[in-house]
Amino acid sequence: MNDPKSILEPIGGYLLDVVAKLRNRPFVPHSLTKLHNIKTCRDLTGATTAIEIGSYKGVTAKRISYLFEKVVSVEIDEALYRQASKRCAGRKNVELLLGDGAKLLPEIAARVRMALIFLDGHFSGGITGQGDEPEPVLKELDLIHNNLDHFCAVIVDDFRLFGVEAGWPAKAQVMAKLEDVLPTREWVHGVLNDQFIAVRKKH
Ligand SMILES: C[S@@+](CC[C@H](N)C(=O)[O-])C[C@H]1O[C@@H](n2cnc3c(N)ncnc32)[C@H](O)[C@@H]1O
Repeated sequence: MNDPKSILEPIGGYLLDVVAKLRNRPFVPHSLTKLHNIKTCRDLTGATTAIEIGSYKGVTAKRISYLFEKVVSVEIDEALYRQASKRCAGRKNVELLLGDGAKLLPEIAARVRMALIFLDGHFSGGITGQGDEPEPVLKELDLIHNNLDHFCAVIVDDFRLFGVEAGWPAKAQVMAKLEDVLPTREWVHGVLNDQFIAVRKKH
């Protein structure tokens, strides 16, 4: 879970990831490696707005506020929403919303442009909350579909857990949905650092 106690923790995690990559070993990426993925997708597409489903304590929302003009982040659990709001209070370009991502997405998707969406809103044990499903990614991808022109990058976190955690769809189901909603003639699909990634092709 993304809740560092000091700046050394994410830096140490990133260095461990670099070593694992150099040794060509499988590894579960730490938070800065995942942040690097978000930055890569931004650089590839020119995304200017980031939407995050699942704010948790607001660590990623705050970090990506330095990479994007605007960040919209949704958290379903009220106590976590309050913690995220406190953490992001100084970042004027961060809009935190309390609610179910699957219910708020239609409104958000309709008003954003050049958006990257980071789908990370699922039950993760402990103090985390959940909506109608433990992992609503298939529903969320359908909701993006209605405003697809407003999106240029989609990241689904925690590749390794699909088909493993109770109530989560299989990896193949997520990939099939991604290819259905984001057609390969216009989108490039991949898996990088424990995340499904899709970026819109440049013409
Ligand atoms: C893995 S954590 C998110 C971590 C966060 N993105 C970060 O990088 O710091 C998942 C979060 O999603 C929230 N969540 C679960 N279901 C949700 C839903 N339907 N809508 C919004 N948030 C949800 C949980 O309460 C939890 O805080």
